[in-house]
Amino acid sequence: MTTALITGASAGIGAAFAHELASRGTNLILVARSQDKLQDLAKLLQTQHQIQADIIAQDLSVPNAAEMVFDTVQQRGHIVDLLINNAGVGDYGDFAESDRAFQLQIIQLNILALVDLTHRFLQPMRQRRSGSIINLASVAAFQSMPYFSIYSATKAFVLSFSEAIWAENRSYGVRVVAVCPGPVGRQFFQQAGFPKTLVDLSAIVETPAKVVVRDALNALAKGESIVIPGNPTNQVLATLPRFVPRDWVANFWQLILRVQKS
Ligand SMILES: NC(=O)c1ccc[n+]([C@@H]2O[C@H](COP(=O)([O-])OP(=O)(O)OC[C@H]3O[C@@H](n4cnc5c(N)ncnc54)[C@H](OP(=O)(O)O)[C@@H]3O)[C@@H](O)[C@H]2O)c1
Repeated sequence: MTTALITGASAGIGAAFAHELASRGTNLILVARSQDKLQDLAKLLQTQHQIQADIIAQDLSVPNAAEMVFDTVQQRGHIVDLLINNAGVGDYGDFAESDRAFQLQIIQLNILALVDLTHRFLQPMRQRRSGSIINLASVAAFQSMPYFSIYSATKAFVLSFSEAIWAENRSYGVRVVAVCPGPVGRQFFQQAGFPKTLVDLSAIVETPAKVVVRDALNALAKGESIVIPGNPTNQVLATLPRFVPRDWVANFWQLILRVQKS
C-alpha cells in the first residue's frame, strides 16, 4: 500500500485529493491547521475505504513547519510515496496598502514550506528511486496580477520550480507535476478577500475540485510536468500571455481586478 502526504487537506482541493486517493486504497497523512476537520476526515476515510489515515495539525506558515512535519512523519514510521504540496492562500488588494506581515506569511506558506517539504521528502524518494510530488500552482502562474500580486508571483515560482525539478528527477524515478487550475469553488476567493462581484465572476469558469484531482493524477501517471485542468478558459489564460507584450497582461488584469475594487 502506498502513502500520500497532503498539505491543506482539511478543505477544498486537498480534501478532494484525500477522498480520491483513499478510494484508490492509498494511506494518507493529512496536514493543515484545523485539527478537528482533519480528525473527522481521517475517521470518515478510514471507515469508508479501510485505509490508514494519520493527521498532523501544523501551521505551515511558520518558519520551521516543514522540519516539524518531516520529523513527525519519521517518528511515526511513515514512508511517503506521494507528496502533495497543496496548502496555499492569497490576499486581494493593493500591495502598498496590504498587511506586510501577512504578505510574508503567504510567501512562507506558498513558497518556502513547499520548497522545504519538497527538499526533505525528495531525498528518500531518490534513494528508493521511486516517488511522486504534486505541486499546486495556478493559472495565475502565467500572468502578473495587480491586486493579487504576491499570490500570482508565488504561483509563478511554484510552476518554474516544479518544471525544473521534474526534469532533474526523471532519471531517478521521481515524478513531479505542477497543477495549474483556474477558479475552483468560491471559498478560496472569499477567504482571499475578493469582492462579491469578482467571486461571482470566477464562478462562471469554475472547475470542480474532483476534476482538478482527476486531471492531476492522470498527468502524474503519464509523467507530464504540468497540467491545466478543467474549464477550457484556463488553457486560454495560460497560453495567451505568451503571445502578447507582458505589460498588456498586467494592464488587462488591472482592469478586471481594479474595476471591482471595493
Ligand atoms: N480554489 C481555487 O480557485 C484555486 C485555483 C488555483 C489554484 N489553487 C491552489 O490550490 C491550492 C488549494 O486551494 P483550495 O481552493 O483548495 O483552498 P481552500 O479551500 O481555501 O483550502 C486551503 C487549505 O489549506 C490549508 N491551509 C491554509 N493556510 C494554512 C497554513 N498556514 N498552514 C497549513 N495549512 C493551511 C487550509 O486548512 P486550515 O485552514 O485548516 O489550515 C485548507 O485545508 C492552493 O495552493 C491554491 O493556491 C486554488
